[in-house]
Amino acid sequence: MRRRTAILISGRGSNMAALIAAARAPDFPAEIALVLSNKPDAPGLAQAKSAGIAVAAVDQKIYAGRDEFEASMQILLDIHRIELICLAGFMRILSASFVNRWRGRILNIHPSLLPAFRGLDTHRRALAAGVKVHGCTVHFVEPELDAGPIVAQSAVAVREDDTPETLAERVLEKEHQLYAQALALVASGRVRIEDELTRIGFD
Ligand code: GRF
Repeated sequence: MRRRTAILISGRGSNMAALIAAARAPDFPAEIALVLSNKPDAPGLAQAKSAGIAVAAVDQKIYAGRDEFEASMQILLDIHRIELICLAGFMRILSASFVNRWRGRILNIHPSLLPAFRGLDTHRRALAAGVKVHGCTVHFVEPELDAGPIVAQSAVAVREDDTPETLAERVLEKEHQLYAQALALVASGRVRIEDELTRIGFD
């Protein structure tokens, strides 16, 4: 039974594309059943559509507020019988009630080794802090931003001559591999949350 998964995006969707590609393997435990964007002009939306995936835009601008916007997203998630959500460059903060409803079934990818560098502009901040190792994290989403039990992480060595752009590029390559691995672990039921930490079982 492949778990029906929605990917929520706001922009270019390179992580989305990596998940779609990984889920093409017949033994991948998740199927990408919906791509949802809060921006109708997100380039990733057109890409998902041409890959034959159901897409929808929930344009945040036409809603009176966050509750109405999220209610609309929830209806689409229900219609498509979604079981898991992957946030992939989704640039809208979700309410605690939405996140709690999906607790344990909603993942995010963040471009740093959490808990270091929560928030935006992670690559520039990592360079400014002089870290020698940087990377990305897939974690379960909690109401608190960029917090939540960590599922998987991948590291890259920081180079002397790195700029935020060169570092971002190497981290992004890792993100594409890591997100598919993490989704596979979660979708196959091998990840348990215990005391705000994950336990990963291998059978
Ligand atoms: C990625 O760096 C991801 O870690 C962050 O937003 C960016 C999205 O990129 N959350 P893309 O849209 O997946 O290409």
